[in-house]
Amino acid sequence: MPHSFDARARTWDDDPRRRHLAESISAALERAVPLRKDMAALDYGAGTGLLTLALAARVRRVLAVDASAGMLAVLAQKARAGNVANVEILRADFAHDPLPAGPFDLVASAMTLHHVADVADLLRKFHALLAPGGHVALADLDAEDGTFHGTNAPGVHHLGFARTEFAAQLEAAGFADVRIADAVRNEKNGRAYTVFLAAARKP
Ligand SMILES: C[S@@+](CC[C@H](N)C(=O)[O-])C[C@H]1O[C@@H](n2cnc3c(N)ncnc32)[C@H](O)[C@@H]1O
Repeated sequence: MPHSFDARARTWDDDPRRRHLAESISAALERAVPLRKDMAALDYGAGTGLLTLALAARVRRVLAVDASAGMLAVLAQKARAGNVANVEILRADFAHDPLPAGPFDLVASAMTLHHVADVADLLRKFHALLAPGGHVALADLDAEDGTFHGTNAPGVHHLGFARTEFAAQLEAAGFADVRIADAVRNEKNGRAYTVFLAAARKP
């Protein structure tokens, strides 16, 4: 499945809908999490860095993690071109790769969790990576009917998420102060899909 992202990496940012989505998620994250210049952040499923690079301007460092070498190559190229020195890159899938050294003050993720089979396991790993008082900020699709990706799309494990169940999963992983807000309404193929941002803290 990372291969399908590899193939789309070079043209990923050409779609204005994706750029708008990431900008809106970044704005929702800033409303939900008090960002500080001394923070260490991790962006899981960073892709071409649409969220990573916005975060990098606001915090001390960002570790961009993604399973797709192609997406990360585009991110590395963009960081070089923009002289961005506080982004590190790690190709990994936390389902089977070792976790990086922490702790982090923020774990963020945009439009990636529906590609992850075992979300409960991933949320526990995010919790383990955070310092006490650290934040998660996770944006993904509200429950949808499968038309967002179309039929037989590879690597789609969830047709979005029901907010109440997602909040319960965060609490089961050990998070507190769970808040879920609208991030953006996303138009695709003439239909509207809503995206939420879930924020919570490690006690
Ligand atoms: C829809 S893209 C979103 C990229 C970026 N966050 C954005 O908003 O533009 C999903 C990204 O998650 C990555 N991904 C999918 N499954 C993953 C997994 N299990 N572990 C790490 N990355 C994964 C893909 O390679 C892809 O870059």
